[in-house]
Amino acid sequence: MKPRNPVSRRVFLSILGSASIAVGCARSESEAERATSKPGSANDTARRAPKKLSEIVIGFSQTGAESSWRVAHSKSVQEEAEKRKIQLLFADGQNVHNNQINAVNGFITKGVDIIVIAPQESLGWKPTLKEAKRAGIPVVLTSRGVDADEDLYETVLVADFVWEGRQAGEWLAKQTNGSARIIELVGTPAADVATMRKAGFAEAIAKHPDMKIIASQSGDFTRTKGKAVMETLLSAHKGEINAVYAHNDDMALGAIQAIEAAGLKPGKDILVVSVDAVKPAFEAMIEGKLNATVECSAVHGPLLFDTIEKIARGEKVPKRTIVPGKVFERDQAAALISTRPY
Ligand code: AHR
Repeated sequence: MKPRNPVSRRVFLSILGSASIAVGCARSESEAERATSKPGSANDTARRAPKKLSEIVIGFSQTGAESSWRVAHSKSVQEEAEKRKIQLLFADGQNVHNNQINAVNGFITKGVDIIVIAPQESLGWKPTLKEAKRAGIPVVLTSRGVDADEDLYETVLVADFVWEGRQAGEWLAKQTNGSARIIELVGTPAADVATMRKAGFAEAIAKHPDMKIIASQSGDFTRTKGKAVMETLLSAHKGEINAVYAHNDDMALGAIQAIEAAGLKPGKDILVVSVDAVKPAFEAMIEGKLNATVECSAVHGPLLFDTIEKIARGEKVPKRTIVPGKVFERDQAAALISTRPY
C-alpha cells in the first residue's frame, strides 16, 4: 500500500526500515545519509532492515492528572501501548500549556515516529504543529482538539462535547419542568471541551425561559476548585440555587461536598448533573447525591492505537472520530457500577 502524503510517508518508510528513529529534521538528515552511504555498507543495511510496528516510538503529551477521567485516559493509552508492545514516551504536562509545548518540541527533536497530544488548551499550537509537520512526524490528537488548520495534524479522537452539554441541559429541563436557577461549573476555559459543553447546555436551556444560569465560573476540571468555587457561589447566592451543571464529574463531586457543608442535600435540594461517568460519580449517584452524568468515554487506548497503526501503514484515517457516550441516571447506578471501566 502506498502512503498517502509526505507525513505518513516518513512513518511508512521508517516501518519499512529506511531510517532509524530520527531527529527533528529527520527526513533530510536520513536522506542525506542515504545519499552518501555506499550500497551494502553496514549503515545502509541497518537502515534498511525492516522496522516493525513494535519498533516505532510514540511521544505522548498528556495534559496532566486533573481529574479521575484524565487518570483513566492516561491508563487506557499506556495499557494499550504495553499490550501492543509499542514504546510510549509519556510526558505529564501538569496542566500547564507551555509544559506540553516543550514536551512536544522535545519529541520532535528526539525524532519520535508519531506524536500524540491531549491538549490542555486549544490555542497556541500552530508553530509546534508546523514544526512536527516539517519534521515529517504525524500528530494525533486525543480527548481535546486544537485551534489550528486541519492539515497540521492527522486526526482527532474526541467526544461530541456540544452533544454532552445539550444532554445535560435537556435532562435538567425535564427534571425541573423547565424551571431552574443554575450554577455552571466550567472546565478549563481555554479548552475546546469547556467552550463546547457550555454551548450545548446553553442551547438546550434556551428553549426554557425559566431556566437561568445564576453564575458560571471555572473550576478547572478539578474537585478542589469545584468545591472552592461552589462554596463561594453558595454563599453569594444563598437560597437562590436549585441546580448545578458541572462540566465534569470531579467538579460536581467537589460541589457536592460544598453543598453538604452548607447544610443542604445535594441531589435533592440542589440537583447535580455532570459529564464523564467515572466510577466515583456512580458511587455518588448510589448515595443519591449526584442525579445524572453524561458519559464521555476515557477509554481511548484501543481506538488510538488502531489509528496509529493505520497511519503507520500509510492508510487513510478520518480527520475526526467521535467517541460515543450516553446519559446515566441515579436509579441506574447500582446496577451498572460494576460495568464501568473507569
Ligand atoms: O477532555 C475531556 C475532559 O477533560 C474530561 O471531561 C475531564 O474530566 C477532563 O479533565
